[in-house]
Amino acid sequence: MHPPDFPELPAGFRFGAATAAYQIEGAHDADGRGPSIWDTFSHTPGRTLNGATGDTACDHYHRYREDVGLLRDLGVDSYRFSLSWPRLIPAGTGPANPRGLDFYDRLIDELLAAGIAPAVTLYHWDLPQALETPPPGSTATGGGWRVRETAEAFAEYAALAAARYGDRVERWITLNEPYCSAFVGHAEGRHAPGTQEGRGALAAAHHLLLAHGLAVQALRSAGAQEVGITLNIDRIHAASDRPEDLAAVRRAEVLHNETWTEPLLGGRYPRGEHETWGALADGAWRRPGDLRLIGAPLDFLGVNFYRPVTVAAAAHRTPDPGLRDAVDIGVTELDPYGTRHTTMGWPVVPPALTELLRDLHTRYPRLPPVWITENGSAEDDTVAPDGLVHDTDRIAYLADHLAAVADAVAQGVDVRGYHVWSLLDNFEWARGYDQRFGLVHIDYDTLNRTPKDSYRWYQGMITAHRART
Ligand code: NOJ
Repeated sequence: MHPPDFPELPAGFRFGAATAAYQIEGAHDADGRGPSIWDTFSHTPGRTLNGATGDTACDHYHRYREDVGLLRDLGVDSYRFSLSWPRLIPAGTGPANPRGLDFYDRLIDELLAAGIAPAVTLYHWDLPQALETPPPGSTATGGGWRVRETAEAFAEYAALAAARYGDRVERWITLNEPYCSAFVGHAEGRHAPGTQEGRGALAAAHHLLLAHGLAVQALRSAGAQEVGITLNIDRIHAASDRPEDLAAVRRAEVLHNETWTEPLLGGRYPRGEHETWGALADGAWRRPGDLRLIGAPLDFLGVNFYRPVTVAAAAHRTPDPGLRDAVDIGVTELDPYGTRHTTMGWPVVPPALTELLRDLHTRYPRLPPVWITENGSAEDDTVAPDGLVHDTDRIAYLADHLAAVADAVAQGVDVRGYHVWSLLDNFEWARGYDQRFGLVHIDYDTLNRTPKDSYRWYQGMITAHRART
């Protein structure tokens, strides 16, 4: 099959790849790292596919030099990775761990020597366990994201990271997909801490936003220039024009998107919260001044995009929504797309990315420049007898989504860069190691790294872009 043409992006557009600490590092108890809620969750029977944990993952902690070599040969401008909060501050607050700090010094210096700009995510879901449940004898309150103290602890951690790495980090991302931390973690319970709470999920959403606002302040006072947040904004289509389906779309918009975009980009809490949450929408955890902190101007918005969703009104809606899953806000998800699906079961619909970017652009006059901080596909990859991985479906996915970004740029949206999720196959949270998103294949028995055909394609794309612009 002939590989797809390289989409044309403007001069100065930056290409990258992304990972996250718990998904690749392994070394879960090395050099003074403390446990995170994901260590606890993944070690709890029944929580992850086949009991998978991040104990070893890709062993990136010990193999980071090889991985930076792969990034260098790939030719990326930017590498997005996350710092492990419990590696840096094992108990969440209090003393820092010098050996943890040293690890990211080594990684960052290796990246800079390879000519790659670090884009650092502070929180990619690995909350120090001590902030969730304090160890016996501690005076800490616990409560994780349900409590304000965790947002304050996050600000301390952000200040530490900025003081240590600020001279070398080009771009800071406070949080990754806070929707998942709040609602997948505390309402659906599919992610750590794995609870089904309702109120706790809404409190978590607010304290995550507050943590972001406090971290922005801490990063800026340490001199950081480029500060943003990464959201998984959903492109939500209506199943029909029936009023009840349109109302369901509104509720899903509040849950998935406006809870985040309205305070961050619009300086207000979303309209229609009561329609969505019912009695839970009292917002008792909000304090005067929070909204101003949360809505401080951003230097960029990170967008993670994988697939659109279509929603309809659910047949029944529980009178007191417990928010245990989307059905509790009276919404059901449909998949009318009739396209190819990735192994995650996600439909491949690239124009939805153009729509999403255009919609953000028209909706928010204060929209800062956008970076695609994640986009990619999980495929059924195997190493062929020739020793290579022929992942033609992933190449088509990346080419079509980059073309969708190029379309958005042509329509006036200021998109500055794009990161493939992911550099490496890795620990796909509750889905374990079966879902392979990497440009580089990992053999989990030997931890050998094999660049896939998509790696070569992306390398060609970057080279062609540089030659043309
Ligand atoms: C978004 C998350 O940020 C990342 O950790 C995850 O692996 C990808 N989506 C794929 O599901």
